[in-house]
Amino acid sequence: MASYKVVVTGRILPSALEVISRRCAVQRWEEATSIPRELLYEWVKDADGLFTTGDVRVDDELLAHAPKLRVISQASVGYDNVDIDACTRRGIPFGNTPGVLVDATADLAFGLVLCAARRIFEGAAQVRNGAWKNGYDIPYGVDLFGKTLGIVGMGSIGAAVAKRAQASGMRVIYHNRRKRSDDAVLGTTYSEFDALLESSDFVLVLAPLTNESRGMFGKEQFARMKPTAYFVNVARGAVVDTDALYEALKTKQIAYAALDVTDPEPLPGDHPLLTLGNVLITPHIGSATHETRHRMALLAAENLMAGLDGKPLPACVNGSVNYRG
Ligand code: DGY
Repeated sequence: MASYKVVVTGRILPSALEVISRRCAVQRWEEATSIPRELLYEWVKDADGLFTTGDVRVDDELLAHAPKLRVISQASVGYDNVDIDACTRRGIPFGNTPGVLVDATADLAFGLVLCAARRIFEGAAQVRNGAWKNGYDIPYGVDLFGKTLGIVGMGSIGAAVAKRAQASGMRVIYHNRRKRSDDAVLGTTYSEFDALLESSDFVLVLAPLTNESRGMFGKEQFARMKPTAYFVNVARGAVVDTDALYEALKTKQIAYAALDVTDPEPLPGDHPLLTLGNVLITPHIGSATHETRHRMALLAAENLMAGLDGKPLPACVNGSVNYRG
């Protein structure tokens, strides 16, 4: 017999659903659109657990409709859709999935650096369109070797990208809220933000979206970058002022952008960014490998079940209200 009621607000991998369904009655939103707010309020009224997706806002108002809630779990490392303080005030632990997606996301981040630098996307499109006529009229890129990669937001994914970049002969500098204590081991150098923008050939954004980082790349920041700079964002679209990025690319204030995340997201097919030749956009696939998404799903299911049972979540964002063993 099911011992708990769990609301799942969107897509969930079958492996996670199976773990949860063994002991829980699951009420799941299965449409491709976001669950209507009023319906969600109705569903969470008697829910013990909530399994969220990034497009659902978890705030005080939602929590007020869920008096029985013991745990919230989300299969992502980012949680900018969640008011963590509101969860903490109500004693509800929130679980996410750090660690398990580090290498997949680092691969994608460095893959975008490489694709942008060598114009792989444009070259492939030229061949596919039947426009490859000779060995001269082909897209030329730039070397990675000897160039400076400036990483903004240097956590474990940044450290994993640094290794990949160094293997290609790049120098890695970074800006972070705190200077890391393992620079000597990583071979990385801390930089002030403006100095990083001015001296990097490639600027890679990995910073989480917070009140402080929202819009941190705007007109002024693009103006500081080299005209030959490549801008790569694998974090969250709203860290960037999209209009300012569009202008910087259109006027060639910077050379190129490769974006795995956008604001808005998904980016509409008629968005002005898509009219530019110097931008490459992928559909938020940083962690999207079969193996990694499977690990994320299982960790999210473990977080959920632990919270329902009043046990410590293996990965808890608000540790002060995590259950004790
Ligand atoms: C994450 O885990 O935060 C990735 O961006 C996927 O949403």
